[in-house]
Amino acid sequence: MNITNLSNNTYVGGGYFHVEGCPLRERCPVVEFSWLGDERGKLVVIEGGIAIPFEIKRIFYIYDSDRDVIRGQHANKTSEFVLINVAGQSKVHLTDGREEFTVELTRPMMGIYIPRMIWKDMYDFSEDSVLLVLASTHYDNSEYIRNYDEYIKMVDENSPVQ
Ligand code: TYD
Repeated sequence: MNITNLSNNTYVGGGYFHVEGCPLRERCPVVEFSWLGDERGKLVVIEGGIAIPFEIKRIFYIYDSDRDVIRGQHANKTSEFVLINVAGQSKVHLTDGREEFTVELTRPMMGIYIPRMIWKDMYDFSEDSVLLVLASTHYDNSEYIRNYDEYIKMVDENSPVQ
């Protein structure tokens, strides 16, 4: 996966809501990072704008979440993210209100790219899960949509006329 593909997948048609002809899975690709390894162990390098299609403005990580906890449960108006389980495992469920799929993050060299305006849930955290999140923006609570009905309304209002 290279940055050109990611950009094309995300911004086809110049929109970031429902893009006709571009399935959700293609707009939210799983990214395989290359790793440098030798007898001392493995090293994964992620450079903003190179391995992922945005400059990294913020990182945060989620750990110590029980298996029955559901995190996320929001969409973002402006932020793009890449989620990586640098340790342990978790599941990420994504929807744009029409299509949906779940990806299992199981390895430190895999990530899931999440463009703007995608509703996300993270859950099924293993005990040792450390979920690293790379974000394209600084934190701004006002760009979070935390109510699913409100999200669906926004998606419908911004969808191209069928
Ligand atoms: P929340 O968005 O609910 O976390 P998650 O998406 O992982 O379920 O954030 C939990 C709290 O942390 C909330 O009060 C907002 C705050 N927060 C920040 O201050 N900065 C950040 O970058 C993030 C992600 C959250």
